[in-house]
Amino acid sequence: MDIEIKKVKYLPELRRVAELADRIWHECFVDIISEGQIDYMVEKFQSLDAMCRQIEEQSYTYLAVYDGDDLCGYIAVKPEQDDRFFLSKLYLRSDKRGKGIASQMLERVFAEARAAGKSSVYLTVNKHNEHAIAVYKSTGFELIDSVATDIGSGYVMDDFIFSYAL
Ligand SMILES: CC(C)(COP(=O)(O)OP(=O)(O)OC[C@H]1O[C@@H](n2cnc3c(N)ncnc32)[C@H](O)[C@@H]1OP(=O)(O)O)[C@@H](O)C(=O)NCCC(=O)NCCS
Repeated sequence: MDIEIKKVKYLPELRRVAELADRIWHECFVDIISEGQIDYMVEKFQSLDAMCRQIEEQSYTYLAVYDGDDLCGYIAVKPEQDDRFFLSKLYLRSDKRGKGIASQMLERVFAEARAAGKSSVYLTVNKHNEHAIAVYKSTGFELIDSVATDIGSGYVMDDFIFSYAL
């Protein structure tokens, strides 16, 4: 499938990404974390305000995935101070999955990382997110660690850390 992946530059598009994030997070995490934790994490990490802060204060880049005019997925990445590149978000609406788009999204992440002069890409993924873990493993990511992160209000993110050598 021919898709286009574009850097998000303007607020109206970032607002549309935030709306998409809200939808995808509520559909994909229902079997993994509680509704309360999804609401809390969307507000904390994927609200328009939160994403603006990530871009302005933490060097995040958001990339929007389009099938024609249809905004159907998004990516967030961030270069670290060392030689690593952080893949923070990789999200695709459910009706667009299983069509080869995810592999194109990951290729774009690797290209961004190489362009930034990095030697590896790492990510965190919920330990119970079996499909995403299978996708990462089939792409060549390797499990390197696990981490439990207290995100406040009694919620914890229980994640694996995967890394891909460029
Ligand atoms: C993660 C996500 C972006 C992957 O997109 P997807 O369309 O479901 O991925 P695909 O089914 O196209 O799989 C991608 C690749 O992994 C491979 N793959 C998928 N499941 C696999 C499995 N169980 N075993 C081996 N390989 C597998 C596919 O063959 C495909 O490779 P190909 O493009 O060479 O054919 C998407 O499922 C999503 O947005 N999920 C919800 C959000 C989420 O969990 N994001 C990750 C948070 S860390």
